[in-house]
Amino acid sequence: MRELKILAVVVFFTLLTYIGVEPFAHSQMHEHIEPVDYKYSDLKPLNKKGDPKKGAETFMNAGCVGCHGVKSQGMAAPMDPVSASASFGVMPPDLSNAGAIYDEKFLANLIKNPAHALMVEHKFNDKRPFPMTAFMGLGGDLDQEVADIVAYLKSIAPKKLDDKQVFIDACGRCHNVKYDKWTVIGEKPKLETDKQKAEFNLKLATYEENLKKYLGTTPPDLSIIIRAKSEEHLMNFMGEPQRVLHGTAMPRVGVTKENAEKIISYFEKVGDRKKDERESVTLKIILYFVIFTIFAYLWKASKWRDLH
Ligand code: HEC
Ligand code: HEC
Repeated sequence: MRELKILAVVVFFTLLTYIGVEPFAHSQMHEHIEPVDYKYSDLKPLNKKGDPKKGAETFMNAGCVGCHGVKSQGMAAPMDPVSASASFGVMPPDLSNAGAIYDEKFLANLIKNPAHALMVEHKFNDKRPFPMTAFMGLGGDLDQEVADIVAYLKSIAPKKLDDKQVFIDACGRCHNVKYDKWTVIGEKPKLETDKQKAEFNLKLATYEENLKKYLGTTPPDLSIIIRAKSEEHLMNFMGEPQRVLHGTAMPRVGVTKENAEKIISYFEKVGDRKKDERESVTLKIILYFVIFTIFAYLWKASKWRDLH
């Protein structure tokens, strides 16, 4: 009978910890913040209707392609990632999908004042200018020219993007996802010889070093971020990093809410491939312990009976 009492006490405290203490600790550790709504309401609205045809020309004259590639339109990036990181600290992303990835109001504000839209003004100033130059206009109405560029980017963007592509364009220049063979300099190719491996690793290390100099810290690999952070935390962090981690070097990237959800679903696919399997294993382990406890108890009881 004593064993049963001990068992009851153990069960009681386990349940108490699980039901009472864990959620309490959780709520204390994760401060609640107003959810980020992805409306970018702090930015000025785009009050002009853009013309994609005019925008194509404005885009070329604005000099965007001096730094960015637009592969879908046959324009390769002017620099490879390692050289770009030496000049800018980071590879300027390809703009083929930009019109579908970013919020349109965000995009317009980014073109006019990148550091402001990205919320990295605390890291850059006149002495240390942000690497993407602000578009000052071509002599006409600035807001109209910006609206035209945005309309052009939207007109060339694909209607559908898969989850991984959204991640690559919006986050892939700063974050590795080693579990999915993604590196900040691109998809990790098949490396056969030791020489190929060494060359690739040197390129990656050089880029990462430049990135660290640029940001002041190394952005974490996001392979298993979905297991470390809640979906709510990730949505808030992506939508407005400063609100979650004040002073962080991570920019507000300006994706639409739909795309933020796609990025989360990409993290789920990569980081938690074994979720279903894991859950079924947990059940089996619990069952195993229950059966084991019963047998242990019966065995002990029989031993004691012999002794008495
Ligand atoms: C002098 C080089 C340069 C020029 C010119 C330039 N960019 Fe950029 N752009 C960059 C760099 C570098 C980044 C990445 C910055 C970072 O991630 O910190 C960037 C980032 C971006 C992004 C992604 C921003 C985000 O929200 O994550 C977009 C979209 C973009 N540029 C569009 C444009 C457009 C449109 C133009 C032309 C009007 C342009 N850029 C001109 C260098 C440039
Ligand atoms: C210009 C580089 C840059 C881009 C682009 C970028 N990040 Fe980051 N990210 C960082 C840096 C730097 C940190 C480290 C922040 C710190 O420690 O202050 C970080 C940290 C993070 C973290 C960890 C936050 C935590 O709670 O510990 C997550 C999650 C994250 N980024 C997700 C993303 C996602 C998703 C995207 C694309 C939508 C993205 N990042 C785009 C630079 C970037």
